[in-house]
Amino acid sequence: MEEKTAKESEAIISRVMLPPDANVAGNVFGGTILKMIDEIAGIVAIKHCRKNSVTANIEHIDFIYPVHIGDLLELRGRLNFVGKSSMEVGVEVFAENLETGDINFAGRATVTMVALDGNGKPIEVPKLKLVTDEDKQLYNAGLKRYNERVKRLKVTKRLRKKQA
Ligand SMILES: CC(C)(COP(=O)(O)OP(=O)(O)OC[C@H]1O[C@@H](n2cnc3c(N)ncnc32)[C@H](O)[C@@H]1OP(=O)(O)O)[C@@H](O)C(=O)NCCC(=O)NCCS
Repeated sequence: MEEKTAKESEAIISRVMLPPDANVAGNVFGGTILKMIDEIAGIVAIKHCRKNSVTANIEHIDFIYPVHIGDLLELRGRLNFVGKSSMEVGVEVFAENLETGDINFAGRATVTMVALDGNGKPIEVPKLKLVTDEDKQLYNAGLKRYNERVKRLKVTKRLRKKQA
């Protein structure tokens, strides 16, 4: 299968935050942003493999700046790492105050998506072609997290078998 670069599947989505996205004080819910994080991770993964892809894991979520009603939220996603059927997507969140033009880094997350075949089984995806130094750094960090996840999943699967 042909390798693909992270650049080929990069994506950006944006949306103005409205009253249903926020609490009574006007602070946007974490869940609103989480849904957009999930959405962009799916777009990046499907662009990479051109297969249906589902969210297996969301980790390292940091909300570091408050987002309010009226802000324009922009999410940027790119692949960090690709395993056999799994793809780790790094997402960055920016909030723009449309009145002042100020843009703040509002958060980040790491999402693992898994590509599925027509029967809902994991299917192999194109390998990641590493071009830039940033590609290599992100890949190596992603590989470490992948290895940690594999260890943790083994324990989870053992527990599931015990309980069944
Ligand atoms: C994700 C899912 C397809 C994995 O199925 P599985 O039978 O456990 O598959 P495998 O053990 O063969 O693992 C397949 C790949 O997924 C990865 N994976 C599985 N569970 C994972 C998890 N919880 N977090 C991160 N990666 C995971 C594995 O590391 C493996 O990666 P690799 O192919 O790159 O080595 C399955 O757990 C599932 O369908 N989960 C629900 C997904 C969903 O519906 N999400 C939406 C919200 S409910």
